[in-house]
Amino acid sequence: MEQINYNLLRNLDEKYGSPFYIMDSDKYRFNLNSFLNAFRKRYEKVIAGYSLKTNYVPALCKIALDEGCFAEVVSEMEYELARKIGFTNVIFNGPIKRPHILKEALEHGAIINLDSEYEVDFVCRYKQQNPLQNVRVGMRININLTDENGNSTIQCGLRFGRFGFPDNIVEKNINRLCKAGIKIISLHGHTSTSDRAVLNYKIITQHMLAVCEKYQLNDLEYFDIGGGYFGAAPEGMDLTGRPKYGDYANCVIDEIQKSSWFMEHKPYIVIEPGSSVVSNVFSYYTKVYQNKKVGKVNFVMVDGTVFDVKPTMHANNLPHVVFKAVPNADTCICDVVGSTCMEKDVMLKDVKMPIVEAGDFIQFRGVGAYTICLTPTFINFLEPILMERNGEFVEARRRQNIDDILTVYKY
Ligand SMILES: Cc1ncc(COP(=O)(O)O)c(C=O)c1O
Repeated sequence: MEQINYNLLRNLDEKYGSPFYIMDSDKYRFNLNSFLNAFRKRYEKVIAGYSLKTNYVPALCKIALDEGCFAEVVSEMEYELARKIGFTNVIFNGPIKRPHILKEALEHGAIINLDSEYEVDFVCRYKQQNPLQNVRVGMRININLTDENGNSTIQCGLRFGRFGFPDNIVEKNINRLCKAGIKIISLHGHTSTSDRAVLNYKIITQHMLAVCEKYQLNDLEYFDIGGGYFGAAPEGMDLTGRPKYGDYANCVIDEIQKSSWFMEHKPYIVIEPGSSVVSNVFSYYTKVYQNKKVGKVNFVMVDGTVFDVKPTMHANNLPHVVFKAVPNADTCICDVVGSTCMEKDVMLKDVKMPIVEAGDFIQFRGVGAYTICLTPTFINFLEPILMERNGEFVEARRRQNIDDILTVYKY
């Protein structure tokens, strides 16, 4: 992608208006292929189901499609979006699958990972009503990641995650599906963790293998270990001790190679990467309007907002770079504050930065995951997303306007 500099940002601001995101398509292709190749070096049959929830910008998803990925979706909205974008291979996860969309997914032959018993009821009834149809489903299993000291790596330190079938009802539901003449073609073990550590994938893989062996899931085509990896870190982030794609791949493949069941049946390994392939694909640019000193604090007021770069409002300062019209080496400690009238709208807290002037730009790096898809229309219009095409920047998304907002309201 073209090197970012002040003049380029000023031109983009004139044409599209600040703030805006820039998407780096080459980086996304590179991340996807690097992750897949880390597995393929040792096991050829691997598929990536790109997680739409992490970032569903259609221009981005089309790259995933073009690279041969499946779409991984968790709702009716995401399912319909994936189909509209052109995915024929869709992995349908998620805790609530409304009857009409579940039926549609069964008809389309999506890989549906059932999460709860109400779905087993539904597909058994569906098979009864459609006895000639080859009904194939997957099952998500609930995996405990608590060590002997009671410490859990499940997201938010939860002792028990709520997704998938817990051990005590796995057998009953496998039997119900088999008795109904439904094939189990996928086993899903996604378990979101806080630490994204490689060791979690050893436990997940072992647990899944034990289920395959115990219940002889010999129709299995997809051994889906889910997402939640670390990767695609933005430049400027400290990567000491952080896992690489190859660490996850080696850990999983070491385990599957110990299983004679796996090596006999050789299902596809499915990974569902989200953050680990998209975080560093997006950067965000905001323009300085005013420096304001209040008490002892130097506030830098910008036209962007924290809701665009870290809607979860965690306390870490994101990697950032200043682009100045007139370079100057002087620095100061400041808070960069956003354009909404919320005191909480703090984009950077107590950072040492070059002293900026009105019209300068600040870049935020690594904002590709859980940003664009998590940001509602709050106070501001949704901003444009730009990408490079044939040597120039074009809009992957235009700026929202007032008609877009009013169109869903009826009275
Ligand atoms: C089922 C499933 N797959 C994949 C992902 C992607 O995870 P991440 O964006 O953390 O890689 C998630 C996220 O929670 C998920 O729930």
